[in-house]
Amino acid sequence: MGVRPGYWGRLFIKEEKATMKKMMKAISVGLALTMAAGVLAGCGGGSGSSSAAETGAASGAETEAASAEGGKLVFGTNAEFPPFEFVTSQGVIDKYDGIDMAIAKQIAEDNGMTAEINNMEFDSLIVGLQNGQMDAIIAGMTITDERKEEVDFSDPYYTATQVMVVPEDSDIQKASDMDGKKISVIQGYTGETAVQKLGYEYQSFKKGTDAVNELVNGKCDVVVIDSATAQKYVSDNKGLKIVEDKDAFDSEQYGIAVKKGNTELLDKINASIKKMTEDGTISELAAKYADTDTDTATSESEAETAAETAAK
Ligand code: ARG
Repeated sequence: MGVRPGYWGRLFIKEEKATMKKMMKAISVGLALTMAAGVLAGCGGGSGSSSAAETGAASGAETEAASAEGGKLVFGTNAEFPPFEFVTSQGVIDKYDGIDMAIAKQIAEDNGMTAEINNMEFDSLIVGLQNGQMDAIIAGMTITDERKEEVDFSDPYYTATQVMVVPEDSDIQKASDMDGKKISVIQGYTGETAVQKLGYEYQSFKKGTDAVNELVNGKCDVVVIDSATAQKYVSDNKGLKIVEDKDAFDSEQYGIAVKKGNTELLDKINASIKKMTEDGTISELAAKYADTDTDTATSESEAETAAETAAK
């Protein structure tokens, strides 16, 4: 609720400058309080309502996605991350398929709702969540302290690590062998942060497939990316292998993100994750999609991202 007091504060200053009568001030204070109350009532209160209030939810700016109740549960993702999310002809949620998509569908079903996907660039997901363009993010998103400042995460549902994808004949055997090599990462992924921490230069791409194509075409020496996704790229492309370095790359845990303070939805998500972890659903999904052909560079998904260019 930080913005409101500042806003009204600025109004009062203006009024003072205009030397308005005390009477007028009293009226505007009354108005301010009434409107603030309206904002509170409109968004249901709770700390999760802060950005709804800031963007004027009371005046109808709230998107459908911002209200989890009522049939639809909107998940934001970036469907460029097999086996967790990718575009296919017939997925579990519309054209979207993968481990995360199956989990999202189940979470919605557990709560008598239907899952819907809002597919966007990975880098835009957290802002999209804060703006109410989705109820939750499910995107193989690693739980990090930095992200925790902006969103609330569910309990972890998957453990991964960064690995190095290299040509089969590469002499890279550990992370420090990347020194002086041409390294590619994906923009905004934890792989980028990991390479930054190691202190090496790199080029970043918008999509994993772009980085891998660069590698396949011999234009770079190594791609640093999450383990399960790396596996996919290695099985989809000839002549690549994975090199691990457990000392250089920490293990990472994936979580589902909700808007800060949305404990109501978070509790539901955690209940579903607990159930799916305990009854083996998540391991089954991981095994199933590890074996599924996810090499689906359909013309549709190409077209969707045609405007994107690699950020170098
Ligand atoms: N785990 C990595 C991260 O959190 C990569 C996630 C990429 N996910 C995606 N759907 N593109 O940064």
